[in-house]
Amino acid sequence: MSSATPVPAVQHRYGALLESCEQRLREAAQDSAAAVAEPALSTLRAGGKRGRPLLVFCCAPSGALEDEETRERLLDAAAAVELVHMATLVHDDLLDGATLRRGRPTVSAQRGPAAAVQTGDFLFARAFSVLTRAGSPQAVAHLAGAALDLSQGELDQQRSAFDLDLAEAGYLARCRRKTAALFAVACRLGAELGGAGPEAAARLAGFGEGVGMAFQIFDDILDLAGDPASTGKRRGTDLRDGTTTLPLILAMAAEPALRARIAAAAGEDAPRDAVEALCDDLAAHAGSRDARARALAYVATARAGALEGPVDGADVDALTEIADGVVDRYS
Ligand code: IPE
Ligand code: IPE
Ligand code: MG
Ligand code: MG
Repeated sequence: MSSATPVPAVQHRYGALLESCEQRLREAAQDSAAAVAEPALSTLRAGGKRGRPLLVFCCAPSGALEDEETRERLLDAAAAVELVHMATLVHDDLLDGATLRRGRPTVSAQRGPAAAVQTGDFLFARAFSVLTRAGSPQAVAHLAGAALDLSQGELDQQRSAFDLDLAEAGYLARCRRKTAALFAVACRLGAELGGAGPEAAARLAGFGEGVGMAFQIFDDILDLAGDPASTGKRRGTDLRDGTTTLPLILAMAAEPALRARIAAAAGEDAPRDAVEALCDDLAAHAGSRDARARALAYVATARAGALEGPVDGADVDALTEIADGVVDRYS
Protein backbone atom coordinates (compact mmCIF):
# COMPACT_ATOMS: atom_id res chain seq x y z
CA MET A 1 0.00 0.00 0.00
CA SER A 2 1.19 3.48 -0.78
CA SER A 3 -0.05 5.01 2.45
CA ALA A 4 0.74 3.90 5.97
CA THR A 5 -1.88 1.57 7.36
CA PRO A 6 -3.37 3.43 10.30
CA VAL A 7 -4.75 0.50 12.28
CA PRO A 8 -2.73 -2.63 11.50
CA ALA A 9 -4.27 -4.67 14.33
CA VAL A 10 -7.85 -4.06 13.20
CA GLN A 11 -6.92 -4.54 9.54
CA HIS A 12 -5.37 -7.85 10.52
CA ARG A 13 -8.46 -8.96 12.49
CA TYR A 14 -10.69 -8.20 9.53
CA GLY A 15 -8.09 -9.44 7.02
CA ALA A 16 -10.20 -12.23 5.51
CA LEU A 17 -13.17 -9.92 4.93
CA LEU A 18 -10.95 -7.18 3.51
CA GLU A 19 -9.46 -9.73 1.10
CA SER A 20 -12.94 -10.83 -0.01
CA CYS A 21 -13.84 -7.17 -0.48
CA GLU A 22 -10.66 -6.72 -2.54
CA GLN A 23 -11.72 -9.57 -4.79
CA ARG A 24 -15.11 -7.89 -5.31
CA LEU A 25 -13.36 -4.61 -6.12
CA ARG A 26 -11.18 -6.33 -8.71
CA GLU A 27 -14.26 -7.86 -10.34
CA ALA A 28 -16.08 -4.55 -10.30
CA ALA A 29 -13.15 -2.72 -11.91
CA GLN A 30 -12.97 -5.24 -14.77
CA ASP A 31 -14.51 -4.49 -18.12
CA SER A 32 -14.32 -6.03 -21.57
CA ALA A 33 -12.99 -2.70 -22.86
CA ALA A 34 -9.36 -2.38 -21.74
CA ALA A 35 -9.49 1.41 -22.07
CA VAL A 36 -12.14 1.42 -19.32
CA ALA A 37 -10.75 -1.34 -17.09
CA GLU A 38 -7.06 -0.35 -17.16
CA PRO A 39 -7.25 3.01 -15.32
CA ALA A 40 -9.83 1.62 -12.87
CA LEU A 41 -7.68 -1.42 -12.08
CA SER A 42 -4.52 0.61 -11.76
CA THR A 43 -6.24 2.97 -9.29
CA LEU A 44 -7.26 -0.11 -7.31
CA ARG A 45 -3.83 -1.75 -7.48
CA ALA A 46 -2.15 1.46 -6.28
CA GLY A 47 -3.48 0.63 -2.80
CA GLY A 48 -5.20 2.90 -0.34
CA LYS A 49 -6.07 2.20 3.26
CA ARG A 50 -9.55 0.66 2.70
CA GLY A 51 -10.69 2.61 5.76
CA ARG A 52 -14.31 2.87 4.63
CA PRO A 53 -14.86 -0.88 4.02
CA LEU A 54 -13.34 -1.49 7.44
CA LEU A 55 -15.92 0.83 9.00
CA VAL A 56 -18.72 -1.15 7.29
CA PHE A 57 -17.48 -4.40 8.87
CA CYS A 58 -16.80 -2.95 12.34
CA CYS A 59 -20.27 -1.37 12.56
CA ALA A 60 -22.07 -4.65 11.83
CA PRO A 61 -23.44 -6.40 14.91
CA SER A 62 -21.12 -9.15 16.10
CA GLY A 63 -22.51 -12.39 14.77
CA ALA A 64 -23.89 -10.77 11.61
CA LEU A 65 -20.65 -11.58 9.85
CA GLU A 66 -21.05 -15.28 10.73
CA ASP A 67 -24.25 -15.55 8.72
CA GLU A 68 -23.40 -16.18 5.08
CA GLU A 69 -26.20 -14.15 3.50
CA THR A 70 -25.62 -11.17 5.78
CA ARG A 71 -21.87 -11.35 5.19
CA GLU A 72 -22.47 -11.24 1.42
CA ARG A 73 -24.59 -8.12 1.80
CA LEU A 74 -21.97 -6.45 3.97
CA LEU A 75 -19.23 -7.31 1.49
CA ASP A 76 -21.25 -5.76 -1.33
CA ALA A 77 -21.84 -2.64 0.76
CA ALA A 78 -18.14 -2.40 1.68
CA ALA A 79 -17.08 -2.72 -1.97
CA ALA A 80 -19.72 -0.20 -3.08
CA VAL A 81 -18.57 2.40 -0.55
CA GLU A 82 -14.93 1.96 -1.62
CA LEU A 83 -15.92 2.23 -5.30
CA VAL A 84 -17.71 5.53 -4.65
CA HIS A 85 -14.61 6.70 -2.78
CA MET A 86 -12.34 5.69 -5.67
CA ALA A 87 -14.64 7.37 -8.21
CA THR A 88 -14.56 10.60 -6.27
CA LEU A 89 -10.77 10.46 -5.93
CA VAL A 90 -10.34 10.15 -9.69
CA HIS A 91 -12.70 13.09 -10.31
CA ASP A 92 -11.24 15.04 -7.37
CA ASP A 93 -7.71 14.76 -8.77
CA LEU A 94 -8.91 16.18 -12.05
CA LEU A 95 -10.66 19.08 -10.27
CA ASP A 96 -7.67 19.71 -7.98
CA GLY A 97 -5.04 19.40 -10.71
CA ALA A 98 -3.37 16.75 -8.52
CA THR A 99 -0.54 14.78 -10.09
CA LEU A 100 0.14 12.10 -7.47
CA ARG A 101 -2.28 9.67 -5.78
CA ARG A 102 -1.45 6.58 -3.76
CA GLY A 103 2.16 7.13 -4.77
CA ARG A 104 1.40 6.93 -8.51
CA PRO A 105 0.53 9.45 -11.22
CA THR A 106 -3.19 10.33 -11.12
CA VAL A 107 -5.47 9.16 -13.92
CA SER A 108 -5.87 12.77 -15.09
CA ALA A 109 -2.10 13.42 -15.09
CA GLN A 110 -1.28 10.15 -16.82
CA ARG A 111 -4.16 9.77 -19.27
CA GLY A 112 -5.79 13.19 -19.50
CA PRO A 113 -9.05 14.76 -18.34
CA ALA A 114 -11.39 12.73 -20.58
CA ALA A 115 -10.05 9.46 -19.17
CA ALA A 116 -10.46 10.76 -15.61
CA VAL A 117 -14.10 11.74 -16.21
CA GLN A 118 -14.82 8.40 -17.83
CA THR A 119 -13.04 6.31 -15.18
CA GLY A 120 -14.80 8.10 -12.34
CA ASP A 121 -18.19 7.66 -14.02
CA PHE A 122 -17.47 3.98 -14.59
CA LEU A 123 -16.53 3.45 -10.93
CA PHE A 124 -19.68 5.29 -9.75
CA ALA A 125 -21.88 3.13 -11.96
CA ARG A 126 -20.19 -0.04 -10.74
CA ALA A 127 -20.60 1.03 -7.12
CA PHE A 128 -24.36 1.21 -7.43
CA SER A 129 -24.68 -1.97 -9.44
CA VAL A 130 -22.68 -3.83 -6.76
CA LEU A 131 -24.84 -2.37 -3.99
CA THR A 132 -28.13 -3.43 -5.62
CA ARG A 133 -27.04 -7.02 -4.90
CA ALA A 134 -27.51 -6.32 -1.19
CA GLY A 135 -31.24 -6.10 -1.91
CA SER A 136 -31.91 -2.95 0.11
CA PRO A 137 -33.37 0.11 -1.67
CA GLN A 138 -32.74 2.01 1.57
CA ALA A 139 -29.02 1.23 1.39
CA VAL A 140 -28.92 2.45 -2.23
CA ALA A 141 -30.72 5.64 -1.18
CA HIS A 142 -28.19 6.23 1.61
CA LEU A 143 -25.19 5.78 -0.66
CA ALA A 144 -26.78 7.95 -3.35
CA GLY A 145 -27.29 10.64 -0.68
CA ALA A 146 -23.61 10.51 0.24
CA ALA A 147 -22.57 10.69 -3.44
CA LEU A 148 -24.80 13.73 -3.81
CA ASP A 149 -23.24 15.33 -0.73
CA LEU A 150 -19.80 14.61 -2.14
CA SER A 151 -20.55 16.26 -5.46
CA GLN A 152 -22.03 19.28 -3.71
CA GLY A 153 -19.02 19.47 -1.39
CA GLU A 154 -16.72 19.50 -4.41
CA LEU A 155 -18.90 22.20 -6.00
CA ASP A 156 -18.68 24.27 -2.81
CA GLN A 157 -14.92 23.94 -3.03
CA GLN A 158 -14.80 25.07 -6.66
CA ARG A 159 -17.05 28.02 -5.87
CA SER A 160 -14.93 29.16 -2.95
CA ALA A 161 -11.60 28.62 -4.74
CA PHE A 162 -9.15 31.49 -4.13
CA ASP A 163 -11.47 32.93 -1.46
CA LEU A 164 -9.16 33.66 1.44
CA ASP A 165 -12.11 35.09 3.39
CA LEU A 166 -13.81 31.68 3.65
CA ALA A 167 -15.06 31.36 7.24
CA GLU A 168 -14.47 28.35 9.43
CA ALA A 169 -18.19 27.47 9.34
CA GLY A 170 -18.15 27.34 5.53
CA TYR A 171 -15.04 25.19 5.58
CA LEU A 172 -16.61 22.76 8.08
CA ALA A 173 -19.84 22.53 6.05
CA ARG A 174 -17.74 21.62 3.03
CA CYS A 175 -15.86 18.89 4.95
CA ARG A 176 -19.15 17.46 6.15
CA ARG A 177 -20.38 17.05 2.59
CA LYS A 178 -17.12 16.21 0.88
CA THR A 179 -15.77 13.64 3.32
CA ALA A 180 -17.76 13.02 6.51
CA ALA A 181 -20.96 12.00 4.66
CA LEU A 182 -19.29 8.94 3.13
CA PHE A 183 -17.72 7.90 6.45
CA ALA A 184 -21.17 8.20 8.03
CA VAL A 185 -22.77 6.07 5.33
CA ALA A 186 -20.10 3.38 5.64
CA CYS A 187 -21.01 3.05 9.32
CA ARG A 188 -24.75 3.23 8.67
CA LEU A 189 -24.70 0.55 5.99
CA GLY A 190 -22.67 -1.79 8.18
CA ALA A 191 -25.13 -1.34 11.02
CA GLU A 192 -28.35 -1.49 8.99
CA LEU A 193 -27.42 -4.32 6.65
CA GLY A 194 -26.03 -6.22 9.63
CA GLY A 195 -29.43 -5.97 11.36
CA ALA A 196 -28.82 -3.24 13.97
CA GLY A 197 -31.79 -1.10 15.06
CA PRO A 198 -32.34 2.48 13.86
CA GLU A 199 -31.00 4.10 17.03
CA ALA A 200 -27.72 2.20 16.93
CA ALA A 201 -27.42 2.86 13.18
CA ALA A 202 -27.89 6.59 13.73
CA ARG A 203 -25.38 6.58 16.59
CA LEU A 204 -22.79 4.78 14.50
CA ALA A 205 -23.42 7.11 11.54
CA GLY A 206 -22.74 9.99 13.94
CA PHE A 207 -19.47 8.34 14.92
CA GLY A 208 -18.50 8.02 11.25
CA GLU A 209 -19.35 11.63 10.59
CA GLY A 210 -17.18 12.87 13.46
CA VAL A 211 -14.25 10.69 12.46
CA GLY A 212 -14.68 11.84 8.84
CA MET A 213 -14.55 15.49 9.88
CA ALA A 214 -11.33 14.85 11.80
CA PHE A 215 -9.94 12.85 8.89
CA GLN A 216 -10.42 15.74 6.44
CA ILE A 217 -8.97 18.33 8.82
CA PHE A 218 -5.90 16.13 9.35
CA ASP A 219 -5.67 15.58 5.59
CA ASP A 220 -5.64 19.34 5.11
CA ILE A 221 -2.82 19.69 7.64
CA LEU A 222 -1.02 16.90 5.85
CA ASP A 223 -1.24 18.83 2.59
CA LEU A 224 1.23 21.18 4.30
CA ALA A 225 3.17 18.80 6.53
CA GLY A 226 2.98 15.34 4.99
CA ASP A 227 5.92 13.57 3.41
CA PRO A 228 4.80 12.40 -0.08
CA ALA A 229 6.62 9.11 0.57
CA SER A 230 4.04 8.29 3.23
CA THR A 231 0.94 10.18 2.02
CA GLY A 232 1.37 9.17 -1.62
CA LYS A 233 0.28 12.74 -2.51
CA ARG A 234 2.14 15.91 -3.48
CA ARG A 235 2.49 18.57 -0.80
CA GLY A 236 0.93 22.00 -1.35
CA THR A 237 -1.83 20.85 -3.74
CA ASP A 238 -4.47 22.79 -1.78
CA LEU A 239 -2.33 25.93 -1.81
CA ARG A 240 -1.75 25.68 -5.54
CA ASP A 241 -5.39 25.19 -6.42
CA GLY A 242 -6.58 27.93 -4.09
CA THR A 243 -8.37 25.68 -1.61
CA THR A 244 -8.72 27.54 1.68
CA THR A 245 -8.40 24.96 4.48
CA LEU A 246 -8.65 25.18 8.26
CA PRO A 247 -4.89 25.47 8.98
CA LEU A 248 -4.77 28.38 6.52
CA ILE A 249 -7.87 30.07 7.98
CA LEU A 250 -6.47 29.83 11.52
CA ALA A 251 -2.94 30.86 10.51
CA MET A 252 -4.23 33.95 8.63
CA ALA A 253 -6.43 34.90 11.61
CA ALA A 254 -3.38 34.78 13.90
CA GLU A 255 -1.00 36.41 11.43
CA PRO A 256 -2.73 38.47 8.71
CA ALA A 257 0.56 39.10 6.89
CA LEU A 258 0.50 35.46 5.74
CA ARG A 259 -2.39 36.27 3.45
CA ALA A 260 -0.19 37.76 0.74
CA ARG A 261 2.16 34.75 0.74
CA ILE A 262 -0.80 32.34 0.55
CA ALA A 263 -2.31 34.31 -2.32
CA ALA A 264 1.04 34.25 -4.14
CA ALA A 265 1.29 30.44 -3.80
CA ALA A 266 -1.92 29.83 -5.76
CA GLY A 267 -1.77 28.69 -9.37
CA GLU A 268 0.40 26.19 -11.21
CA ASP A 269 2.93 28.92 -12.02
CA ALA A 270 3.77 29.64 -8.39
CA PRO A 271 7.50 28.96 -7.87
CA ARG A 272 8.03 25.50 -6.42
CA ASP A 273 10.52 26.70 -3.79
CA ALA A 274 8.12 29.36 -2.54
CA VAL A 275 5.30 26.82 -2.18
CA GLU A 276 7.57 24.36 -0.36
CA ALA A 277 8.82 27.08 2.01
CA LEU A 278 5.25 28.21 2.70
CA CYS A 279 4.21 24.60 3.40
CA ASP A 280 7.05 24.34 5.95
CA ASP A 281 6.13 27.62 7.61
CA LEU A 282 2.41 26.84 7.77
CA ALA A 283 3.04 23.30 9.03
CA ALA A 284 5.04 24.78 11.93
CA HIS A 285 2.53 27.58 12.54
CA ALA A 286 0.06 27.81 15.42
CA GLY A 287 -2.70 27.61 12.81
CA SER A 288 -1.84 23.96 12.14
CA ARG A 289 -1.61 23.25 15.86
CA ASP A 290 -5.05 24.79 16.39
CA ALA A 291 -6.53 22.93 13.43
CA ARG A 292 -5.18 19.72 14.94
CA ALA A 293 -6.91 20.58 18.23
CA ARG A 294 -10.21 20.99 16.34
CA ALA A 295 -9.73 17.57 14.71
CA LEU A 296 -8.96 15.98 18.08
CA ALA A 297 -12.16 17.46 19.47
CA TYR A 298 -14.16 15.81 16.67
CA VAL A 299 -12.57 12.46 17.48
CA ALA A 300 -13.26 12.87 21.19
CA THR A 301 -16.90 13.81 20.56
CA ALA A 302 -17.35 10.92 18.14
CA ARG A 303 -15.95 8.49 20.68
CA ALA A 304 -17.96 9.86 23.58
CA GLY A 305 -21.23 10.40 21.72
CA ALA A 306 -21.34 7.26 19.66
CA LEU A 307 -19.43 4.58 21.44
CA GLU A 308 -20.77 5.13 24.92
CA GLY A 309 -24.40 4.35 24.01
CA PRO A 310 -25.98 1.11 22.76
CA VAL A 311 -24.55 0.09 19.38
CA ASP A 312 -26.28 -3.29 18.98
CA GLY A 313 -23.10 -5.34 18.99
CA ALA A 314 -20.83 -3.25 16.76
CA ASP A 315 -17.11 -3.82 17.37
CA VAL A 316 -16.51 -0.90 19.73
CA ASP A 317 -12.88 -1.84 20.40
CA ALA A 318 -12.10 -1.77 16.70
CA LEU A 319 -13.97 1.51 16.20
CA THR A 320 -12.03 3.04 19.07
CA GLU A 321 -8.78 1.90 17.47
CA ILE A 322 -9.87 3.36 14.13
CA ALA A 323 -10.69 6.72 15.75
CA ASP A 324 -7.30 6.73 17.47
CA GLY A 325 -5.62 5.59 14.24
CA VAL A 326 -6.92 8.66 12.42
CA VAL A 327 -5.10 10.75 15.01
CA ASP A 328 -1.93 8.65 15.13
CA ARG A 329 -1.44 8.68 11.38
CA TYR A 330 -1.07 12.42 11.51
CA SER A 331 0.96 12.71 14.69
C1 IPE B 1 -8.45 10.57 0.71
O1 IPE B 1 -8.97 9.52 1.46
C2 IPE B 1 -9.51 11.59 0.47
C3 IPE B 1 -9.92 12.30 1.68
C4 IPE B 1 -11.12 12.24 2.14
C5 IPE B 1 -8.98 13.15 2.37
P1 IPE B 1 -8.05 8.35 2.00
O2 IPE B 1 -6.88 8.92 2.72
O3 IPE B 1 -8.91 7.40 2.76
O4 IPE B 1 -7.54 7.67 0.66
P2 IPE B 1 -7.00 6.19 0.39
O5 IPE B 1 -8.18 5.38 -0.02
O6 IPE B 1 -6.34 5.66 1.62
O7 IPE B 1 -6.04 6.36 -0.76
C1 IPE C 1 -11.18 15.08 -0.29
O1 IPE C 1 -10.53 16.27 -0.36
C2 IPE C 1 -11.56 14.58 -1.63
C3 IPE C 1 -12.75 13.78 -1.70
C4 IPE C 1 -13.59 13.62 -0.74
C5 IPE C 1 -12.99 13.14 -2.99
P1 IPE C 1 -9.03 16.46 -0.82
O2 IPE C 1 -8.98 17.03 -2.18
O3 IPE C 1 -8.31 17.18 0.25
O4 IPE C 1 -8.48 14.98 -0.87
P2 IPE C 1 -7.03 14.59 -1.38
O5 IPE C 1 -6.06 15.36 -0.55
O6 IPE C 1 -7.01 14.94 -2.82
O7 IPE C 1 -6.93 13.11 -1.11
MG1 MG D 1 -7.85 16.47 -3.78
MG1 MG E 1 -6.21 16.79 0.62
